[in-house]
Amino acid sequence: MPLRDVSWEEFSGLSLDGKARALNSKGRLFHVLYAQQFGRKELDDLGALATQIRFLAKSDDGARFLLGLLPHRRAMLYFTQPSTRTFLSFCAACEVLGMSLGEVRDTSTSSEFKGESQEDSVRTFSSYFDLIVMRSKIGGLAERMAWTLSNSERPVPIINAGSGRDQHPTQALLDIYTLQRSFERRGGIDGKRIVFVGDLARGRTVRSLSCLLANYRGVRMVFVAPDQLQIGRDILEQLEARGVSYELSADFAAAIPDADAIYMTRIQDEWDKEQGESARIDTSSYCFTEADLARLGKEAVLMHPMPRRNEMAAGVDRDPRAVYWRQMRNGMWIRSALIAVQFGIAEVIRNRASETGVKVP
Ligand code: CP
Repeated sequence: MPLRDVSWEEFSGLSLDGKARALNSKGRLFHVLYAQQFGRKELDDLGALATQIRFLAKSDDGARFLLGLLPHRRAMLYFTQPSTRTFLSFCAACEVLGMSLGEVRDTSTSSEFKGESQEDSVRTFSSYFDLIVMRSKIGGLAERMAWTLSNSERPVPIINAGSGRDQHPTQALLDIYTLQRSFERRGGIDGKRIVFVGDLARGRTVRSLSCLLANYRGVRMVFVAPDQLQIGRDILEQLEARGVSYELSADFAAAIPDADAIYMTRIQDEWDKEQGESARIDTSSYCFTEADLARLGKEAVLMHPMPRRNEMAAGVDRDPRAVYWRQMRNGMWIRSALIAVQFGIAEVIRNRASETGVKVP
């Protein structure tokens, strides 16, 4: 059922799976709003495409080929909630493919300041741009804007670059790409033990990534947090429905030795309901320090969506198992791959990569 054939009330009442189906157009990803839109095949294909783009971009010839793919397309970055790496990696991803960019990062400089609605703002962007990437602190706003555009005369795609406390699907895609690369010589992501640590109640990256990990066979997820910051029941119910095994724990030290990947998160106190709410929770034992390196598996990896505070000591950065800087750079490649799929140029990239001998696992 295409998005333009349903009322907002009907669409917002659908299950996540029903919504995910409505977001595609002509059998292809169109709006990208939820992690639930991606199955195992899409994840494998996107990772392979990101690798092909990454290798092509290394040579002068390959970079020029990529630049020539979408010079006639423009992307609008509508980021009204703070961001460094999501914003910049989307800029870089669009530039890799030759797209030009516009941005609104502060509504005090746009006509929203004069009372324009978000619907009218987004319809205005769609008059000039072919893709809208948006981040907002308002949960569900990207979904409402996608419906608005699909029911307008210029239905351009929307990518959710972080909405409220709910979803951050493209962060989860880059996390999966990082895990694919990290476990390339260890049988892939299947069967691995992934330990999530920190503010799991309000961290949208963990919510999206745990849904993507449910696509892998035998993955075991361990959610480690103080009770007040433990992962939401809605995510656990989704995992249970898919037969995924998980553990809840408050003991980070005990979870370190058996982990294949540790995914640290910061305390998201910007969501505190009252001043100092997070500060009253003892989070001191949910930090990874240099001393913990000795108990970490030799082939395990340490991840973090960033930005970090003190939960991941800077002294750990030099250890080869700390992959969070590479993880961040992977965001540029996977976001290029995603945009390539949305604009129907994946095949031409694959062909060029295979002609130039780029090998993907
Ligand atoms: N990981 C992430 O979303 O970082 P930014 O907030 O800097 O975009």
